[in-house]
Amino acid sequence: MSIPSRVQIIDVGPRDGLQNEKTPVPAAVKISLVQRLQDAGLQEIEVTSFVSPKWVPQMADNAEVMAGIARKAGVRYSVLTPNLQGYEAAVKTQPDEIVVFGSASEAFSRKNINCSIAESIERFAPVVQAALAAGIRVRGAMSCTVGCPYEGGIAPQQVAYLAGLMKGIGVQRVDVADTIGVGTPRTVQRAIEAALKHYGLDEVSGHFHDTYGQALSNTLAALELGVWNYQASVAGLGGCPYAKGATGNVATEDLVFMLRGMGIETGIDLDKLVDAGAYISDFLGRKPNSRTAVALLNKRA
Ligand code: HMG
Ligand code: MG
Repeated sequence: MSIPSRVQIIDVGPRDGLQNEKTPVPAAVKISLVQRLQDAGLQEIEVTSFVSPKWVPQMADNAEVMAGIARKAGVRYSVLTPNLQGYEAAVKTQPDEIVVFGSASEAFSRKNINCSIAESIERFAPVVQAALAAGIRVRGAMSCTVGCPYEGGIAPQQVAYLAGLMKGIGVQRVDVADTIGVGTPRTVQRAIEAALKHYGLDEVSGHFHDTYGQALSNTLAALELGVWNYQASVAGLGGCPYAKGATGNVATEDLVFMLRGMGIETGIDLDKLVDAGAYISDFLGRKPNSRTAVALLNKRA
């Protein structure tokens, strides 16, 4: 398999990134971040999630954020919907894509969405049906495809099992997520190959958290398999509140720098992306969690 010549990135910073922040981030700041990401050339942005505000208070302003963004033609805006209640609230805000999120680990499924894997699929099925009927695209996030904070190592068979269930209910494409960033190139490749048993290469994306500094290496390993869709978080924001100690996704700036160096097209303007990361990092009162962003900001100064 040859390495792809073009990569599509979903910036999940406004959702995966900000969901874990302790200090409230006003809707206006989230809206401005989305604006800066689309100005930088991002064609897909994961904006927010329609989950319980008791579970994830930071996403309670979901409808306000969706109403406030100035949509740009050609950009796909996605939101997380764990159940019909979330979907019904989400659909009013006209997302281009909804994301159901399951786990390859039973224990993580219970901690994150309060039900077993089988029950989660029962909950997702009517959501997927309703979305497809309304002409909304459907993605499925698959958490803990390499390791779980509660169960430890996850076998590729568990990933294949979940991918098969997702396929069975009509989910159009899936994210192979290393939620806690414990994957290394070969284990991540095994997880991706397991997803590829049920989905085509165009329907599988890599979602790598960088907790152990492996996310770029894991991306390269996924590129070797031909995977060309990835999720990343501007300024390396984030982590999952139900995966203690896990840090953010690979920083979008670092990913774009690597891909650009490899001659792989992303359509993203790195300077504007660094500006977007600096904007949200300034608001949060810290430096971007991206080596590329810090290097480029130092060079500017
Ligand atoms: P539950 O308690 O089992 O739900 O939570 P329930 O149906 O029994 O309802 C209980 C209460 O929640 C009720 O309210 C419902 O109205 C409310 P009450 O009567 O007590 O006032 N409720 C909702 N409110 C708003 N929106 C909804 C909704 N559903 C029920 N959609 C539930 C189940 C899934 C809601 C809960 O467990 C939850 O919200 N979990 C949040 C999980 C989450 O957001 N995790 C982070 C995102 S996943 C992630 O980051 C991983 C990913 O990045 C990939 C990776 O890296 O692995 C995607
Ligand atoms: Mg994640």
